Amino acid sequence: MIKLAPSILSADFANLGNDIKRIDQAGCDWIHVDIMDGMFVPNISFGMPVTKAARAYTKKYFDVHLMIQEPIRYVKEFKAVGADMLTVHVEACEDVQATIDAIHAEGMDAGLACNPETPVEDIVPFIDKVEMILIMTVHPGFGGQSYIDECTEKIEIVNAIVNEYNLKTLIEVDGGIKVDNVCIPLDAGANVIVAGSAVFGGNVEENVKNFKEQFQNF
Ligand code: DX5
Ligand code: ZN
Repeated sequence: MIKLAPSILSADFANLGNDIKRIDQAGCDWIHVDIMDGMFVPNISFGMPVTKAARAYTKKYFDVHLMIQEPIRYVKEFKAVGADMLTVHVEACEDVQATIDAIHAEGMDAGLACNPETPVEDIVPFIDKVEMILIMTVHPGFGGQSYIDECTEKIEIVNAIVNEYNLKTLIEVDGGIKVDNVCIPLDAGANVIVAGSAVFGGNVEENVKNFKEQFQNF
């Protein structure tokens, strides 16, 4: 089952509750929550209070993507505001395994992300240690960028390992994904699709429906 996880980074922050209800009712699977610290990425989005406020508008699974330096510092805080999964960047953690363990200790699922320029070898040792691998398909920091084709091969490599060892690890992709190119990561083996501008730009209900139609071929 392929999942659609709209990124609320592209929502109208002044009407966030309403936008979350809309994607929920339109049939999205997860809610993707992008947290940026202005250090790990050159942008600041929002933090715990906004995540907590957003949580009140849906019961759907909260997929929290931490683009922050040393995320281990905030694991408890994000649990407290309702995260179901915390995804951290391999580049941002001094001790990746300790960070994964801290997330699991709080009863959350753990995800591990890698930037476009990060070799896939850096995440391979952790594929069987986390519930999800996130392959970034843009340089993180901003919505509305273009999909970087070179990242597709990393999805294929992770997918091959998941299949070879019969793992349950999900493969998420994030950045530049639209209805008309989503088949590229899906072909490569991705099964959680993040989309920000392609969900919130235009008619949300139609956009979700169009993504779901593409998913039926996989
Ligand atoms: C990028 C974020 C993404 C972003 C995706 O740093 O992690 O989740 O919101 O936006 P689109 O789908 O517009 O590329
Ligand atoms: Zn994201």
